[in-house]
Formats: sequence, structure tokens, C-alpha cells
Amino acid sequence: MPERPYVIDEMISAKAIAARIEDLSHQIRSEFAETDKLVVVGLLRGSFVFIADLVRELDLAIEVDFLEASSYGDDMESSREVRILKDLRGAIEGRDVLVVEDIVDTGFTLTHVIKLLKSRKPARLRTIALLDKPTRREVDIRADWIGFEIPDEFVVGYGIDFAQRNRNLPFIGKVRFTDEAAK
Ligand code: PRP
Repeated sequence: MPERPYVIDEMISAKAIAARIEDLSHQIRSEFAETDKLVVVGLLRGSFVFIADLVRELDLAIEVDFLEASSYGDDMESSREVRILKDLRGAIEGRDVLVVEDIVDTGFTLTHVIKLLKSRKPARLRTIALLDKPTRREVDIRADWIGFEIPDEFVVGYGIDFAQRNRNLPFIGKVRFTDEAAK
């Protein structure tokens, strides 16, 4: 993508994210209260910040594992190809699993990952997404828990990138282009 100048406007503050994660963690704790050892699976790369904050709010016995799936290149359009770039280290057969996603957009990534993980016969498979853009959905899928429903804006920060930049912002921001083409 050609370099275009942009600024980032704050959309969801770090404080609002922390408060929402605390709420969600209560719900997750009650869902998995009886579970021996929950496997929390982060989808790389976008979920690395969210999973780090979420697991520290979960007062449960957990294991953490990661799966890397990719449906985007460095551009802003989703392709329908979902590639698994890194698989789980551990087996999940008979285990309770929570998949942690940063954002559900078209829904292709989460759909593909759920299908793949279900084929490994977990006892229970649940999903959580920090952000959901329902107006972009192309396949009928919804995470079991959602942090925030957002409109169709280009968002960055808190793990989410813009052409591999800005993942380290502590809040969720909205990209606003400032060149002539944006006016
Ligand atoms: C992004 C995001 C989700 C997915 C959502 O991942 O992290 O995993 O796209 O899009 P979808 O609902 O349209 O499938 P990306 O492939 O950009 O990789 P990244 O997490 O490494 O940034």
C-alpha cells in the first residue's frame, strides 16, 4: 500500500477496555468454573495484547497456546483465504477451549479456526472477540462473548495493526487519512 499520511483518533480508551475485560472475565469464570484446566488459545498476531490482559483477570487454572491464522495481507481488504501459519503446540481433544480473537470482521478467520479446532474434538469450545464489526460480516458467525460492537471504521492499537504498525497503542484508535485523497 502506498504511504498515506494519517492520524489516529482514540475510539475506545485503555480504561474502557480494562473495565470491559473485567466484566467479561466474570462471565468466563462462571462458564468454566468446573473446568479442570482451560486452554486459552490466542489468535496471532492481533490478540496478543488482549489475551495478556484477559488471562490475568481469569482466576482459573489455564494453559495458554497460540494459533496464527492470516486472512489479510498488508492491505485493507480481506481475502477469503485463511491460512494457518502456526498451529497449536498442544492437543485439545477432550479439553475445554477458549479462542481469543481481537476482531471479527468478515468472519472468515473465526469460522475457519472454529471448524479446524472442532475437528480435534474438544469437550467445549467457546470464543471471545474484543471487537465485532457486524456490518462487515460475510459468513454467519458470532463470538460467544464480545467486548465492543463497532462501526465499519479502520481500527488500530491494542494489538491491531495498520500495515504492521501501531499494534502497541494502549487504546483502540481509528485511522483518519489526512492527505488530499481523504478530503
Ligand atoms: C485480522 C484480525 C482477525 C481477522 C479478522 O487478522 O486479527 O484475526 O483479521 O478478519 P475476518 O473476520 O475478516 O477474517 P490478520 O489476518 O490481519 O492477522 P494479524 O492478527 O496477524 O494482524
